[in-house]
Amino acid sequence: METITTIPEVREWLDAERRAGRGVGFVPTMGYLHPGHLSLVETAVKENPVAVVSIFVNPLQFAEGEDLGSYPRDLAADSAQCEALGVDYLFVPSVEEMYPSPVATVVKVSSVAAPLEGVARPHHFAGVATVVAKLFSIVGGCRAYFGSKDWQQVCVVRRMVSDLSIPVDVVACPTVREPDGLAMSSRNVYLSAEERAQAPVLRAALDAGLDAISAGETDSAAVEAVMEAVVDRADLASLDYAAAVQADSLVSDGPLHGEVRLLVAARFGRARLIDNDGAVI
Ligand code: PAJ
Repeated sequence: METITTIPEVREWLDAERRAGRGVGFVPTMGYLHPGHLSLVETAVKENPVAVVSIFVNPLQFAEGEDLGSYPRDLAADSAQCEALGVDYLFVPSVEEMYPSPVATVVKVSSVAAPLEGVARPHHFAGVATVVAKLFSIVGGCRAYFGSKDWQQVCVVRRMVSDLSIPVDVVACPTVREPDGLAMSSRNVYLSAEERAQAPVLRAALDAGLDAISAGETDSAAVEAVMEAVVDRADLASLDYAAAVQADSLVSDGPLHGEVRLLVAARFGRARLIDNDGAVI
């Protein structure tokens, strides 16, 4: 595995790979890799002759007062895990390499970036879309692997790729969970033992919403009320939203129909956790 820290070097290596006929699979991450990230890496390694992982804690997607400074990092462990899985290139740029001067060009996706996380974290998706556009520009034509755990992020990236005709295939991979249902997340380390014990309530809320839909409920407010009632049972959880929406637009346009997505966000102490799941009606 080659570990690369500069943009020209990534371009050089990957252009040579593509010229030699080897297609590229790319997994963008912020590091502190857990089995959720590693499932994307495994898929990228399996499905592509060349696999690239980037690790970059992107300051643009953190607001003032969020956890940029304390975001967990462990480059040695991340690097060993990537190597063991057969990654060919690990791209680990510094903030100076990515943003040598204050960014003047920002990619802002409206529509799918506006609701849910867009309300809770108004600058977040512009930061994500800007860095992902930049990473796609650096890596070049590829298949890029994203986790369905961040469903709205997948929708935002897909929309950006489509609107800007970026030559990247976005592949959404399933959410990897702890045995008790909690979606794996780098931020789970922020949970106290008591909060950790209650955190699977998010999965339980999604299950209750899915059960209501299976029983024939198509009113999004009714499904949302079912999910809210489940999160309310956890006294350490402070619910941000519980939403039942169309999977592609992330809004409801009358009775739920076709591909539906249930999404929840709640704060447990310093940790803000999100989760989601889908159903077809
Ligand atoms: P990060 O939170 O490090 O996540 C990197 C990728 O791993 C994302 O596509 C995310 O959805 C996926 N992932 C995280 N937890 C997962 C789980 N439990 N199961 C499956 N996949 C999971 O998301 C980001 O970084 C950043 O916003 C990034 C796209 C790298 C841009 O900075």
